[in-house]
Amino acid sequence: MHWLDRWKVYRYHRKQTDRSKGDKAKALGWTSEESQLCRFEVIVRSADFEKRSVLDLGCGYGELFELLGSIYRIRSYTGVDLHAGFLKMAKQQYSQAGCQFLLGDMSKMPLEAHDVVIASGSLNYISRDPDYLTNMITRMFGLANQTVIFNLLNSKKYPSRHTLMSYHPRGVFRFCKTLCNDVTLIEGYADGDFTIVMNKVVS
Ligand SMILES: C[S@@+](CC[C@H](N)C(=O)[O-])C[C@H]1O[C@@H](n2cnc3c(N)ncnc32)[C@H](O)[C@@H]1O
Repeated sequence: MHWLDRWKVYRYHRKQTDRSKGDKAKALGWTSEESQLCRFEVIVRSADFEKRSVLDLGCGYGELFELLGSIYRIRSYTGVDLHAGFLKMAKQQYSQAGCQFLLGDMSKMPLEAHDVVIASGSLNYISRDPDYLTNMITRMFGLANQTVIFNLLNSKKYPSRHTLMSYHPRGVFRFCKTLCNDVTLIEGYADGDFTIVMNKVVS
């Protein structure tokens, strides 16, 4: 991601944090905690996380770790974010063994392969690189041993504006099919959002 786009993402969340009066979901850009959770629910149901290693790209406060840990015995969790303030709180909150947080740009930094690679809300930002999304999907697919799960804003319901970018679900689905045979498009859980699940053939 270009440094100016990273700066925009950082500035957006700084503003959201100032406005949010301690509401963590709003600081992350969600309209409410409910809208964050309904996306998490789709994610936790989309794969078997039992004994899996998980890479959460754009993890915010790392709250997905808590939900996953309440349902599954995950092997490890790595959360990545460019926002140092979010990660500081994440590290204070979740200091369990097997849980780590890395500061950096998920599109560029060196990352190890994990069983399941997730991006919830972190691919919704406008980028000056027209290939940002497709490059990120390709990167996530390369980093996943088994499954990639990500959600995006739906351009049919939510036009792109200022900082946020939305996409056509079928267009994204078609791109994912060029990388992977087993792709699922999930809609209908939230107005203006969709989730893609890509499963690799594990031999
Ligand atoms: C809408 S928030 C969602 C946070 C978390 N995934 C959740 O669902 O609660 C998106 C997060 O992605 C992060 N992000 C966006 N682009 C990023 C990048 N290129 N590298 C690292 N983090 C990024 C933002 O800083 C922000 O914390």
